[in-house]
Parts: sequence; structure tokens; C-alpha cells
Amino acid sequence: MRSRQEYQGAIDTLREVGSRARVYLSMPVIEGLTPRALVESSEGVTSEDPSGLPRKDGIFRLDEVGLSCLDHVALYGDAVFEGILIRNRSIFLYREHMDRLDRSMELIDIDSPVDRRTLTERLLETCGQVEFPEGGAGYIRLVVTRGLGDLGINPRKCISPTVFAIVSTIRLYSQEAYRRGIPLGLTRRVRRPDRRFINPNIKSNNYLNNVLALIEGTLGTGFVESLMLTADGFVAEATVDNIFSVIRGEGWEREPSQVTLRTPITEYCLPGITRETVIMLAEKRGYRVSVRDDLMPIDFVGSDKECFMTGTGAGVMPITEIEGVRVGDGTPGAITLELVDDLQAMMADPKNGLPLDPTAEELSVSIGESGSGIRG
Ligand SMILES: Cc1ncc(COP(=O)(O)O)c(C=O)c1O
Repeated sequence: MRSRQEYQGAIDTLREVGSRARVYLSMPVIEGLTPRALVESSEGVTSEDPSGLPRKDGIFRLDEVGLSCLDHVALYGDAVFEGILIRNRSIFLYREHMDRLDRSMELIDIDSPVDRRTLTERLLETCGQVEFPEGGAGYIRLVVTRGLGDLGINPRKCISPTVFAIVSTIRLYSQEAYRRGIPLGLTRRVRRPDRRFINPNIKSNNYLNNVLALIEGTLGTGFVESLMLTADGFVAEATVDNIFSVIRGEGWEREPSQVTLRTPITEYCLPGITRETVIMLAEKRGYRVSVRDDLMPIDFVGSDKECFMTGTGAGVMPITEIEGVRVGDGTPGAITLELVDDLQAMMADPKNGLPLDPTAEELSVSIGESGSGIRG
């Protein structure tokens, strides 16, 4: 049973998000099906949909517009998404997120109905309507769905993709959590499928397996995240974060090459953008990075190790125990703390993303029309 206090916390968070949020929505216009707020809106862009129908977009408050019950994201979780952070009035690693969205769409055979430039310009307009608190973080949840279809699963009976983006504020882990680290649960029964099942490289809206893994690994504990294993018992990732272990060899304090980071291969886990960024930051410091298919839970704990998880929301989060077994001395390790700082420094620099008021050049680099992404 959930307590009143828990409900109240959830309600407060929703109210905060809802009061600031704006939603960008783009879909074909079908009488009797498309939300009226969109059909009747006199603002926004009208274009031709791949289906030949008119396609409309608009920017709304959360309570003005809804998602159709016939959208296959609602019926079957048939959609892909990105969660993107806004720091210092810049959309952090925007181009990397859009590239991953394209790869996810390709893997589930969705053609984007909106070109990247138009989508980016409309997302920036949406961001422009949100009041981000001074110094606080913003968040974009961008979703491309299979679209409206009948009650069967067949995607060929869907009209064309719906694109929507919720832009709002986000509550992140406290600074205290980064100083003290957090404990992780360990999920044993529910397993992380590899590429033969639901390919973990697709960032799809079908998260039920991860939800079940989170319930199993955290139920009745104070844990907020849990580690998932593959069918063969190897460590894959946490339910919404990637995982790293750090090994410090002889003389690591003076010799960076004595430090090795280990993380699972992307056969088992989402190719996290923070994961890739941290690999780059670690290599820049001269640390070795070993991407492996044989990591066991025991490889992440013990007095000679450090452990951290990575994610858009979590950044680099130190892990101090896994299912009650201590990592290091039970406090965040030195290497982990360096990487926490390196990533936070990167986030603080608006050049590492798409500024909310970009120059023409910044816009064109961010949407991949010129230059290269942050990692070249
Ligand atoms: C299953 C899973 N793994 C890892 C991550 C971290 O990925 P990123 O760093 O791109 O946020 C996420 C983030 O949503 C996730 O859902």
C-alpha cells in the first residue's frame, strides 16, 4: 500500500511539471480523431502528410491537448523516444540525441514525417514558451509513435507517425546524492533481453520489462534504481541507466593508465549518450576503457572497486552498494568524483548542445547540416 505522503509527493511533482509544461504535437488531420485543439488551432504549421492528408502541428498546454486512444503508442507501446536535458539554456548533446532517435526509428521501420530542421525549430519555439527556473534544469521528452491505427497491432494499418514533445522542468538527484552516492538494488528474476528479443539499441516506449525489473529490485527497500542481468546472468544495465565499474591498479594515483573502466557491451544495453560521453571523458584523462560481455555483479562490488551509473537524468551517479554489498569504502571513489565533475563542467558549457537562442551556424551544426557533433 502506498502512503498518502507518497501520493502527495507524486501529485506535487506532476503539478509542478504541468504548470510549466508545453507540448508540441504534430499529426495528420482526420476528422473525428485528431484532437480538436490541434484541428482548430490557427497557429502552427500545416504541411502534407505522407498519407496525403493535411498534417498540422501546434504548441499547447498539457491540459489543452491529448493523445488519441487509437495511437499505437497508447495501445502497444509502438514508438521511440528521447529524453533530453536542458542546462544553462542549451539542449545538452542535442545532435547526439537526434541521431539516436533516427537510429531507433530506422530499427522499428518508422520514417520521420517531420524533417529535422522543422522539428528543431518547432522544439525551440516550444522551449521558448516554458519558464525554466534560474539555474534549474529543463527536459524534453520527444516521442515519435507509429500513429493512429485500428485495434490490431499491424503497423501497416496505421496512418502515419505522431510526433510529440513535452518540454518542462525536471527534478534531478540532489547535490547531496552526488556527494554521498546511492545504493542499487539487484533484479534477479526479470532479465534484460538482448538483441534477439527487443533490441536494447531501440529506445522504444515499451518499458514494461524495465518497470517489472524496477519493481522487483526495489520493492520494500529504499532503492531507487536496480541492476538488470542478461538471461545468462551477466550485468546489462540498470533500469534507466548504464553501469560502470572502476578498477584502480598499482600506482593509479600517479599513472592514469592504471585506471580501467569496465562497462557492458551494447548488445545488452542501451547505447547511452551519457555512457558514450563518459567513455570519451575517461579516455581524455588517460584511463583505459574496457567494453565487455562477461561482467558479473561481483565485478562491481568490493573494497578495491568504484562503481557509478550514467544517464541523462542521473549524469554520473556514484554507487556505494549493490543489494547491500559495499563498493569501495562505501563512499564515492576518487575517479568517479572526477567524472561527476567533468560531466557537470561539460553540461555547464552551452557550446556542448543547441543553445535555446542559436545562431544560424549553431543550428545547422546541431541538426547535422554542417560540422560534426561534439565527439567529432
Ligand atoms: C534502459 C536505459 N539504459 C540507459 C539509459 C541512459 O541513456 P542516456 O545516457 O542516453 O540517457 C537510459 C535512459 O533513458 C535507459 O532508459
